[in-house]
Amino acid sequence: LGILYQQETALSVAEFAALLADAEPDLHRPVNDEPRLMAMLANADLIVTARDAEHRLVGIARCLTDFVWTCYCAELAVHSSCRGQGIGTAMILYCRQILGPQVSFNLTSVPAAAAFYDRIGPRIGMHRIVDAFCITRERGV
Ligand SMILES: CC(C)(COP(=O)(O)OP(=O)(O)OC[C@H]1O[C@@H](n2cnc3c(N)ncnc32)[C@H](O)[C@@H]1OP(=O)(O)O)[C@@H](O)C(=O)NCCC(=O)NCCS
Repeated sequence: LGILYQQETALSVAEFAALLADAEPDLHRPVNDEPRLMAMLANADLIVTARDAEHRLVGIARCLTDFVWTCYCAELAVHSSCRGQGIGTAMILYCRQILGPQVSFNLTSVPAAAAFYDRIGPRIGMHRIVDAFCITRERGV
């Protein structure tokens, strides 16, 4: 498919915003709040991207991690024109490769994506957990 997966440390806020805007119907991120988007990029520990042959950003996995114990994937998104080609699955596997087997990989699914994780879970060793708890943010997008 000619998709390049890599860890990036200087992703532009414009590219990030454009990808999030494309995923907006499902993902609900603050696409019009540039300072917040900049902080989301600056304070992430691990950003894995997928780029096509023309170097366009077609996928992102943005994660918070200590690299030794746990990792929280805050966003997984694939551009709507490129879905169903294995890119979302490949980005999770790429993160796992960087993190290694000692590090757990956690995420909270949006309702629209739960069926995706249920589908790929058995293939990549990901399972639903019941003992997870959350304080929901009071200010969303
Ligand atoms: C969810 C998302 C990341 C999946 O990325 P993707 O690259 O299309 O996923 P893959 O191609 O790796 O899909 C792997 C399998 O899951 C299936 N699948 C993908 N999205 C699915 C969905 N929403 N519901 C059910 N199955 C889904 C694919 O058909 C594929 O099945 P197959 O391998 O048996 O043919 C992508 O649809 C997306 O960015 N959605 C909008 C943002 C979002 O909801 N992100 C998740 C936030 S928690």
